Amino acid sequence: MSRTVIRNIGQLVTMRGATKGRRGHEMSEIGLVSDGEVHILHDSIAYAGPRIDAPAFEADTEIDAGGKLVTPGLVDAHTHVVFAGNRADEFEERATGTTYQEIAARGGGILSTVKKTRAATELELFEESKKHAEWMIRCGTTTAEIKSGYGLDLETELKMLRVAKDLQLTGLTVVRTFLGAHTVPPEANTKLDYLNHVIHDMLPAVAKECEYVDMFVEDKYFDGKDAKKMSEAARALGLGVRLHVDQMRDSGGALLAAQLKSDTADHLEYSNIQGIAMMGIHGVTPILLPGSVYGIRSDHYPNFNELRTEALPYVLATDFNPGSSPTPSLPFCMSLGVTKMGMSVAEALTACTINAAYSLKRGDKFGSLEPSKAADIVIWDFKDYRELAYWAGCSPIQRVIKFGQTIYVGT
Ligand code: NIG
Ligand code: FE
Repeated sequence: MSRTVIRNIGQLVTMRGATKGRRGHEMSEIGLVSDGEVHILHDSIAYAGPRIDAPAFEADTEIDAGGKLVTPGLVDAHTHVVFAGNRADEFEERATGTTYQEIAARGGGILSTVKKTRAATELELFEESKKHAEWMIRCGTTTAEIKSGYGLDLETELKMLRVAKDLQLTGLTVVRTFLGAHTVPPEANTKLDYLNHVIHDMLPAVAKECEYVDMFVEDKYFDGKDAKKMSEAARALGLGVRLHVDQMRDSGGALLAAQLKSDTADHLEYSNIQGIAMMGIHGVTPILLPGSVYGIRSDHYPNFNELRTEALPYVLATDFNPGSSPTPSLPFCMSLGVTKMGMSVAEALTACTINAAYSLKRGDKFGSLEPSKAADIVIWDFKDYRELAYWAGCSPIQRVIKFGQTIYVGT
């Protein structure tokens, strides 16, 4: 069994002590240690804390952190990283004033990525998606939720879910979500026909290839009734439910997620305060995606004050996708969380480590550096954890360690 010590850690963020998603003032408790040391036994943490309290440890490998910052590997709880091609043309067009919704209405947007993703072979899709996964690792992510949803037919949805699993070859831990109800494909006669196909044919066929089911609940996509049918079918198959809600307007999505006892409600840009309060009562975890607000040139960020007041265990995620949020970087989203929503850096970091891990039912394994948890560690080229969000768009990393193995060394 390998034995590794990380010495000379200027600041060590352990995130220790949470038994569920942190909320309220607990969001600021990041378990910060100056002059820290970490011991790794094979793939797990044996010790993470002050150097002076560290037990004796015979190491066969020694890593010098150079007085820099060490954190848990980041956890991205909402991504669409399996896709072919890009939408740089739409990105530039939005700069001239065309909106995300106008592009979607003429058959671009999600459907343009569907076309490219259907046309790619499984190997081509893997190669492109591997590049996206490696970008995420270079931004400090070691665990990611990945959605399907650019297939919209059984064959391509399964292809995407298999590719998502294969992305674990990069080192990333992957949690898979079936998003067959992302939009209605052009060949479907009606939305109802397609939804029935998703629920009765696709869902049972993909159930072994995912843990969660998701739906885009929005005008011109799917509505509350659709979400109810789908979440009941998903639960009957033992799957969890995550929902895209209130991204473009307040359609009561937060309340819907609460009524359906969805595991998470994601986006929430336009959610009303009553809906958010109900999410708290029904244990729905909010997932905030500021990269997608920025990406579509909106200024309508979620009502963060309400989330903070209600003390919900919110999560920050990238929503990495080729349309609304072309960023693989959680540190960039932390920066948006701080500048655009008013989070402290500690809150933002909690939101994309331990809270993100609990939102994926993996808080016992990922998101903090504590004995017996996974040795998923990032050594940053920073001295102060606040630099993570402060230097926007620049996240220099010395090393990313996954299950005790170095998977990326910065240059
Ligand atoms: O979360 N809103 C729906 N889905 C994605 C966008 C997908 C796309 O534009 O390709 C999102 O923003
Ligand atoms: Fe999304």
